[in-house]
Parts: sequence; C-alpha cells; structure tokens
Amino acid sequence: MAGEPSGELICSVDDLQVKQALRVLIEDYPVAVVRDSDGEIHALGDTCSHAEVSLSDGDVEGCAIECWGHGSQFDLRSGAPLQLPAYEPVPVFALEVHDGNVYVDISTVTNGAPAPQLG
Ligand code: FES
Repeated sequence: MAGEPSGELICSVDDLQVKQALRVLIEDYPVAVVRDSDGEIHALGDTCSHAEVSLSDGDVEGCAIECWGHGSQFDLRSGAPLQLPAYEPVPVFALEVHDGNVYVDISTVTNGAPAPQLG
C-alpha cells in the first residue's frame, strides 16, 4: 500500500533530540533508535557485537555511537564497528518517517548483518 509505513511505531521525530539514543523492545528484541549529529535517525541492534552492552547507553558523535563497554564506535548507517575490540557489525533496520512519526521494521536488515532471532 503506497504511503503506509511498515514496521512498529516508535515515537514522534520530535521526541528524539539530536545525539539522543532511545532503547526500545520490538518483539522482545532490543533496538537502538538514534538521532545523529545531523538530525538523521537510524535504527540498529542495541546489543554491542562484542559483549552484552546496550549501545543506546553510549554517546553519539557525528554518525557513530560509542559503546561504553570497551570504546568501540559503530557507524549508524552501516552498523560497522570503527575500531576494535568489536569487529562484527550490528544489524541496521529499515526505518521510515511518516507524518512526523518514526517506524522501524526489524524484519528488514539493510546492512547484511544476521537478522535477529526472534522468539
Ligand atoms: S562491549 Fe562494546 S566494545 Fe566491548
């Protein structure tokens, strides 16, 4: 259907400040919805690929978010770690802004990372 957003309604665009990260659960899977320094919004797996640390608790700088666990930064567009110790990407999900609201579809992984295993 043209014009209809797919995925879960997360929040209003206005609810998310620049450089803010929001942790949400979609089908019990943790997702970080992040607004970068330029105001663009991204959705990625919230769990660091290095260990069980929530990326949404980290700082956003430019188009990256830093894991507070051991300092790896992840590119918000590609999900790729920008330095060690993390070396595997986190999944990046399809995100749509419709009528000022943010929708995330975790069934669509846009960066080739493994799709989440949903219970
Ligand atoms: S837990 Fe994220 S870099 Fe180690």
